[in-house]
This record gives sequence, C-alpha cells and structure tokens, in this order.
Amino acid sequence: MKPGPTQSNPLREGIVARNVPEGCTVVIFGATGDLTHRKLMPALYNLAADGELPPELTVIGMARRPKSDDEFRQDLREAAGKFSRQTVRDELWTGFAGSVFYHQSEFHDADGYKRLGERLDQIEKERATGGNRLFYLAVAPDQFPPILEHLAAAGLNKPREGAWARVIVEKPFGTDLATARQLNSIVQAAFPEEDTYRIDHFLGKETAQNILVLRFANAIFEPLWNSRYIDHVQITAAETLGVEGRAGYYDKSGALRDMVQNHLLQLLCLVGMEPPTDLGADSIRDEKVKVVRSLRRLSAAAVATDVIRAQYAEGAISGKPVPAYRAAENVKRDSKTETFVALRLHIDNWRWSEVPIYMRVGKRLPKSGTEISIHFKKAPCVLFNKEARAHDDNVLVIRIQPDEGISLRMDAKMPGTSLRIEPVKMDFHYGTSFGKTSPEAYERLLLDAMSGDATLFARRDEVEQAWEFIDRIENAWQESDAPPLCEYPAGSWGPDSAEELLGRDGRAWRRL
Ligand code: BG6
Repeated sequence: MKPGPTQSNPLREGIVARNVPEGCTVVIFGATGDLTHRKLMPALYNLAADGELPPELTVIGMARRPKSDDEFRQDLREAAGKFSRQTVRDELWTGFAGSVFYHQSEFHDADGYKRLGERLDQIEKERATGGNRLFYLAVAPDQFPPILEHLAAAGLNKPREGAWARVIVEKPFGTDLATARQLNSIVQAAFPEEDTYRIDHFLGKETAQNILVLRFANAIFEPLWNSRYIDHVQITAAETLGVEGRAGYYDKSGALRDMVQNHLLQLLCLVGMEPPTDLGADSIRDEKVKVVRSLRRLSAAAVATDVIRAQYAEGAISGKPVPAYRAAENVKRDSKTETFVALRLHIDNWRWSEVPIYMRVGKRLPKSGTEISIHFKKAPCVLFNKEARAHDDNVLVIRIQPDEGISLRMDAKMPGTSLRIEPVKMDFHYGTSFGKTSPEAYERLLLDAMSGDATLFARRDEVEQAWEFIDRIENAWQESDAPPLCEYPAGSWGPDSAEELLGRDGRAWRRL
C-alpha cells in the first residue's frame, strides 16, 4: 500500500505541528549544474542544520562529468560557502556531506540507470532510508524526456513495497500548450499526477504563502476583497539583473514565458481565488485553476492595446553603464525577445468583474522587487473628499521580496491646528516582527515534496490553462500587423507605452 503524506499541509502549520519527513533518497539529475550548487544543496544543508531532515536523508547527485564522491562533496562545500542562507559550520557540514554521493552517467545511457538502481539498493540498505525516492530533474528541459523514459525502463519510477517514488520537475514546463501537454504525457507515463511535483519557486516564498493567511485567517479583508471595494490590482516583478549567462534559454523564451506564465499567474491566483473548502492541496489548487480559467482571453486586437512588450537598450543602473540586451553573450544581435512585459487583464467572475489587473515584469529595471498592490476605491466625494484635490487611495501592499511584509496606506490628519490630510502607512516587516530570516523557497519546497504535500506545486491543469492563456498572446505577436517590440533604456521602468497602459485608465504604476 502506498503511504500517505507524513505531515500536515504547510498552510496548516501552527494548527498542526510540522513533523520531520520520513527518510528518503533525493536523486538529483544535473548534480554539477548551477541550480544544484546555488539552490538545492544549500537548501538541503540549511534544512539539515535546522534539524528539519531525518537522519537517514541521503542525496545522490547524477551528472555526466566523472567525479568521486569526495570531489563532489568538496565542490558542494565551496558552493554552500557562497550561497547558503546560514553560515556553513564545519562540524555540521561533515555530518551532512557523509549523506551525499555522486553517480556518473550520461542521461541517455540505459546502463547508467541500471547502475543507479544498484547503487540506490545498496545505499538504501546501509542508510535505512526505507526505500523512499525523490527524483529531482534539475536539468535543461530537453533532458526531461530521456531521464523519465530511462527511469521507467529501469523500473525506478515504481515505488518499492511500503515506500514511495516521486518526481520534481523544474521549470520551464513546456514552451507552449502543445509542448506542456506532451511533457505532461511523458511525465505521467512514468509517475502518476499525485507523485508529480512541478516547481514554481515563487510559491515557496514566505510572503506568497502568507497571501492566503492574510486573506483567510483575518476577518477584515475578505468582505472588501471584491469589485465593490477594489479599484484595481497591480503586480510587479522587477529585476536589476539581466540574463546572467542564461541567454541560451532566455533568448528563446522571453519575459512572458519566463515569468508571467508561471510566477506572476501563480501570484494572481493566490490573490484572486475563492476560499477553498479546506486546506488540502487539491482544494486549494481547484480554486487556483478557476482563476486562470476565468481570465479573459485576449484577442489579437486586445493584445495590441493591452499587452506591451519591450527589450532593454543600453543604459545605466545605479550610475553604472549597462550594455543593451542584444550585446549580451549568446543573444542574437537582431533578437526580438522581450525582456519586459506589461499587461492589463481581467478575471471574468463575480468577485472581480471589471477590476483591471495590471502586471509588469522586466529585467534591467532600476530596482529589484516583487510586490502585489491592492488599490481600493476612493471614499465618497463628501466631507473630507469634497475639495477638488483627490486624496490618495487606500492601498494594501504585499511585498513578496525583498523586505517581505505588508503595508496599508491610509489618510490621516497631520498634527497641527489646520486640517491637513496626508497619507501614512501601517507597515508589517517579517524581519522585525518575527526576528528571524525566512527559509529559502527551495527549502520549503524540498521539504514539502519529501513529505508528500503538493499544495505549493503546480498541478497539470493549472500549467496547461496558463499556457492556453499565454499562447494567445504569443500567437498574436507573430501576426504581421502586431505592434512592434519597444525599447527601454536599461535602468528605466520600461517603455513609455507601459505608463500609457495605466495612464489611459487614469491610473499610474505604484513606485517601488
Ligand atoms: C526564474 C526566471 O524562474 O525566476 C528568472 O527564470 C528570474 O529569469 C527568476 O530571474 C527570479 O526569481 P527570484 O526568486 O530571484 O525573484
């Protein structure tokens, strides 16, 4: 019989205590890659240092380069020194490193998987992991199919008696609806949906998880959370960084596929969803997928007016000159890939009817930060609002990163004998209120996958619905009469047309 999840849903934490997951072996494909060094191993080390992992936890890294276990551990030690959230302590590292092994194989070599199986059997016996296996595909997407097919051919996808076998698939999950469906079929030929964990690391961010707590653990917001009181919503994900050596992937993808299809739509779902019937993974995901289904599909004409795409040109950030996107390594000199997108969307349901949702995402912007702002409708034009000068709206800001927190802007009387009204902020900062740093998204997500909790992972239908929505925009951009790609200087907030998108509705982007 298949064991059930071993711990409470992450959103029920505090209601039900979190347990340490069962022993298991995490097999990472792409063990010598960037993701493993920057994110996965530091995350596992931090979990181990915080006592969140079972002592039997074992990691096997698989990659093509020949390397001994010790060389692999040494590489990881260096990377952890650079990228770990907590300082790496030698005595803790030594214990942790003893649970890490390296397995060399090409990803398309059947014999490599046979040997992996034998190694797993042996290590599992020695370390008493109980035979539980979590396969992590931290590789380029073209390697997903061969790895999944070989895992299945070697029988490694099948859980052993009394144990479980799960797979984590990194993004990008397809490049459009057709490829996402194809990939879903390949994944599902090897692992059932309930054992498939599609990563969207934004869902592992502390403040993203807090959106549901804010909305559904408090009584004051939900009655206001609808078109009667909300004027509009803005979601911004800004980065000062450029493509940082990932041009091979990014130049084929662009900002819409790279960030909007997954991260931004996921955030929108958390803001827009109805209260779920319970905190079960599927109850929450059922509500999220309804939001994507209710997104108004954009016609080519609507794409022309409501979606702005742009690419950064030469500019400067914090006084430092930045070359144009097209001058970056591995980017085609005539690349038409967008590094910035701004969109105006609508969720066509009762709650959100006629409330515009503005989203923007971009690289090489003046500041890095991700936030959601809920802009409430103005107070009636009587009493203090009678004068011509309009007061500022009430705005609830959810800061996803950095300086995670929530603030509420309201008007207040300035002290003094005259009546002067000025906006003030009620501000909650995670750092100061709880006095501890938030875990990295990958820590939470790895722990959840080990514990069999898929709440913070994207389900098949969510991913496919999101692609269906995005494909229409991509297709409209291919038309000969589509508005051309705009340019913006690096270090600016995007092209003027992004300002006009809100300006023509009498609104403006919130300053980050
Ligand atoms: C990734 C995108 O998924 O998210 C990158 O591929 C982007 O282009 C990154 O830079 C942003 O994530 P974070 O956690 O650094 O905000």
